[in-house]
Amino acid sequence: MICAAILGAGIGVQHLEAYRALSDRFQVSLIVDRDAARARAMDASIEWSGEIEVAISDPEIDLIDICLPPHLHVPVALDALAAGKHVICEKPIATSMADIARLRVASEATGAQLFPIFQYRFGPAIAALKTMISNGSTGAPQVAALETHWSRDAAYYSEPWRGTWVGEQGGAILGHAIHTHDLLTYLLGPVAQLSAAIATRVNPIETEDCAAISFQMANGALATSSVTLGAAVDETRIRLVFENLTATSGWVPYAPATGTWRFEARDPALQPKLDAIVQATARARAGYVGAFDAIADALQGTPGHEVTFADGAASIELVTAIYASARTGVRTTLPLSKDHAFFNGWLPDQTV
Ligand SMILES: NC(=O)c1ccc[n+]([C@@H]2O[C@H](COP(=O)([O-])OP(=O)(O)OC[C@H]3O[C@@H](n4cnc5c(N)ncnc54)[C@H](O)[C@@H]3O)[C@@H](O)[C@H]2O)c1
Repeated sequence: MICAAILGAGIGVQHLEAYRALSDRFQVSLIVDRDAARARAMDASIEWSGEIEVAISDPEIDLIDICLPPHLHVPVALDALAAGKHVICEKPIATSMADIARLRVASEATGAQLFPIFQYRFGPAIAALKTMISNGSTGAPQVAALETHWSRDAAYYSEPWRGTWVGEQGGAILGHAIHTHDLLTYLLGPVAQLSAAIATRVNPIETEDCAAISFQMANGALATSSVTLGAAVDETRIRLVFENLTATSGWVPYAPATGTWRFEARDPALQPKLDAIVQATARARAGYVGAFDAIADALQGTPGHEVTFADGAASIELVTAIYASARTGVRTTLPLSKDHAFFNGWLPDQTV
């Protein structure tokens, strides 16, 4: 049994639901939030504390699950890793490549692992497509089109940390489209080059809420990403065209792997094989349940499906490259070197 503490009672509510669905693997023994009422509303039978340090110093706790605002992720993760606790960290795990380097050192020093959250990877449709890619059904990727078209209004930004460089540390690139961009690299591999334009067009906030990005993947495929937080309704749409098939997502915004996808073969003779894969993966665990199940496997000796620290590091490198391109107007080549002007971060006072 893995003993966890949830830090933060916002999205932490959904984390708790997933732990409950995996009660044979996880036990939540502490909820930390400085807002006592919010924490108690999650589950009054679970012990509560307003102090993060109480979780980190508790010898019974194996896993610190960070669901706090983004600016607290790195300092809390560093303290937890130093105490030898494994960490689950909501996105973004860091807001600079320099912080990624610090987290790596801290994890290696104690052997405690940090698992980023990219729960969109988990669920039937992505499991089907991953299988089709790995068994050669898709053939080479050609192009991908991503849409992160969501709606965020004044009520959403009434939370003081949101929409600010200090509190949120980024806008739609860091906080919203980071999921679809993670799916892009999960499915098609690393990005070699990108050019990006970002803008604030929807709400009166400091950070961006729209973006248009063009990617060249290391394998030669091309991809585009359209991002806005001013859509009429929340929809995430993904279309990937491969040599042998086209995969088209449904519209489910926050769990695209659970929507109804079309996997259409160019050669009709391939279609039965694709349909069989869809059938075989239909019961793949989705969202946080799938993500946490894979983490439990990793902690109990059978890694392979979990989102790794390297995946989280790659996502922050990609965010860095997007901000670098958008700010300078220059096409950015990845990987970024240690002497890149944005290595210490993209906040307005961190770039050289
Ligand atoms: N993976 C996803 O799909 C997803 C969805 C939503 C949010 N998130 C991420 O989860 C994180 C939290 O977002 P949220 O929407 O739950 O935010 P939130 O503001 O609703 O909740 C954060 C909680 O942390 C508590 N908190 C803040 N500072 C604290 C401190 N110093 N000590 C103790 N408690 C403190 C607040 O009281 C609040 O209850 C963010 O990084 C966000 O990007 C991820």
